[in-house]
Amino acid sequence: MTRIGFAYNQKPDPSAPAAVPDAAEPALADEEPPSRDGALATLATRAAPRLSPVTHDDEYAEWDSAETIDAVERALARYGEVIRLEATDDFPQRLRHARPDIVFNIAEGLRGPNREAHVPAICEFYGVPYSGSDPFTLALCLDKARTKEILRAHAVPTADWFLVRSHQALGALDLGALRFPLFAKPVHEGSSKGITERNFVSSAAELTLVVGELLERYQQPVIVETFLPGAEFTCGVLGNGARARVLPIVGMNFGALPAGALPIYGFEAKWLWDRPEHPLPIFECPAPVDDRTRDEIVDVVLRAFEALGCRDWTRVDVRLDAAGRANVVEVNPLPGILPDPTDNSCLPKAARAAGIGYDALIGACLEAAADRHGLALDTRR
Ligand SMILES: Nc1ncnc2c1ncn2[C@@H]1O[C@H](COP(=O)(O)OP(=O)(O)O)[C@@H](O)[C@H]1O
Ligand SMILES: [Mg+2]
Repeated sequence: MTRIGFAYNQKPDPSAPAAVPDAAEPALADEEPPSRDGALATLATRAAPRLSPVTHDDEYAEWDSAETIDAVERALARYGEVIRLEATDDFPQRLRHARPDIVFNIAEGLRGPNREAHVPAICEFYGVPYSGSDPFTLALCLDKARTKEILRAHAVPTADWFLVRSHQALGALDLGALRFPLFAKPVHEGSSKGITERNFVSSAAELTLVVGELLERYQQPVIVETFLPGAEFTCGVLGNGARARVLPIVGMNFGALPAGALPIYGFEAKWLWDRPEHPLPIFECPAPVDDRTRDEIVDVVLRAFEALGCRDWTRVDVRLDAAGRANVVEVNPLPGILPDPTDNSCLPKAARAAGIGYDALIGACLEAAADRHGLALDTRR
């Protein structure tokens, strides 16, 4: 029987204060909005009006909930014996001891800008096959600027950008040469960490204020991009090589946001306005787009997947520029996979639109990985 190691990081339980460094600050769940998570009710009271300092806590926004981990384990159990390998400090020893045939990896990592690369790198060190992208691609995609450099080199459209590495560099910017509006974000984060309406800047004064705050709060360079004013989409990719397919495109219906809200899918939309009692109907799948736009989106998504060396599954964010052309915003090789269909989780949603249920989605990723390694899975279970 196939022995499947399952690597993950579980978010601290918000009802267990000792598990969270600052017990007054609830942890967030998963990469995408768990609209059912109780911790969010507390956060709703902290919605920051534009141009007031960012005060939300998003420390654990990337990690997975017990519900997601259980659901993935159940899906994997159809293929063999599942060995849980929580990616904590002693992960290397437990992996070495367990020696699974393959590791199914959804671990977001513990620390640092290369955190998502650690589990795959350890698997490679011990010669254990694993699912998903390799350490290089995972580290690359966690750096939004480096990702864009590769996209540019491969002629995949992406908005113009520059990087601000320090307060000193911010002070030295030639502000008069900039064309607004611009959009600023921490270069190494995901899950809308550090992305609120404030990040849309339309003057030199706003840019200086917001970039300064982001440098301070996130202690990492800030990427400043041309604001893409058009429609937004996110696209799941499953498989590899000639068999890589783009799932039905998910479109963002910004009309669902509160009146006056900026048309972005940032912290407010993901974590504050999407609530259990009022789920935000922001996603439309398949997205209502004309054939030309759909073909163009599929083309840039597959080219981004190839250029960045993604494997097995990925989610690519796309926005249209002022001319209506599809631009890649960022690439998520460790996509959010909330199991509950009422949660706004885009990859499972796109898979469902293609007739692929949750277990089959997890299975497709595992099978793609097993295929790459020439590993035969027992799918009769
Ligand atoms: N250059 C841009 N122009 C317009 N909106 C942007 C731009 N970059 C990011 N956004 C908005 O911010 C959201 C979050 O940015 P993204 O880079 O996808 O970060 P995250 O890793 O948090 O998902 C996007 O979904 C989009 O709505
Ligand atoms: Mg994104």
